[in-house]
Amino acid sequence: MKVLTILSSPNANGLTAACGEAARQGIVDGHSPARLVNLNELNIARCAVHNDGWGTCRNNHRCQLEDDFQSLHETIKQAEGYVFVTPVYFGEPSEPMKAFFDRLRRCEATKDPASGETSTLAGKPAVCVAAAGESGHGAVSCLAVMEHVLNQLGAAVFDFISVTKRTRDYQLETIHDALLAMTTAAQVVPSQVTQEGRRRPLRRRRRR
Ligand SMILES: Cc1cc2nc3c(=O)[nH]c(=O)nc-3n(C[C@H](O)[C@H](O)[C@H](O)COP(=O)(O)O)c2cc1C
Repeated sequence: MKVLTILSSPNANGLTAACGEAARQGIVDGHSPARLVNLNELNIARCAVHNDGWGTCRNNHRCQLEDDFQSLHETIKQAEGYVFVTPVYFGEPSEPMKAFFDRLRRCEATKDPASGETSTLAGKPAVCVAAAGESGHGAVSCLAVMEHVLNQLGAAVFDFISVTKRTRDYQLETIHDALLAMTTAAQVVPSQVTQEGRRRPLRRRRRR
């Protein structure tokens, strides 16, 4: 399963980056190709709200603004699973993540299944991570915003994970394990699970 991690942070050594690295390691340990992009390193403007409110996004499902969104949109189409990692700003995803979500939603959530159009993310698994500060205030509302958007995009959210500086150590393991589970779940044939007919014992968690 090709998994694309989309994160957003100006801090290469911050909590968001650490969450992205934990996700990448989980994907790799699940024997899946991992790709990571940082929205803060891309030029993605906010939606320009063309014409009377709709641009080409509504009918062509392509944004008419020409910037880094176009190539990222193509990369998203190639991916089979996703991780979205954002710092919590004012109880919401970061501004670059919100601008990206806004434009992606206009292109993908406008597809009409009745007309044979399907959102690029439809049915694909996704993990959402909110990296908060000391208080963790607003981490849940941040994840709720992400849930709302991903539901509109038709993604199959695999997990929602909040991390604070206090919970960092064990939540980085959770992120790793979530991606390991997400990537390996896709490789499990249901009949094999039935034949096994038993629960696996809880394994000891890796220590970092
Ligand atoms: C503009 C701004 C708003 C923030 N708002 C919140 C918040 O509402 N709740 C919270 O717990 N932390 C908040 N923080 C702290 C960040 O979420 C936290 O430091 C996060 O780990 C930053 O990620 P980074 O290490 O990748 O930069 C805010 C930080 C900034 C810069």
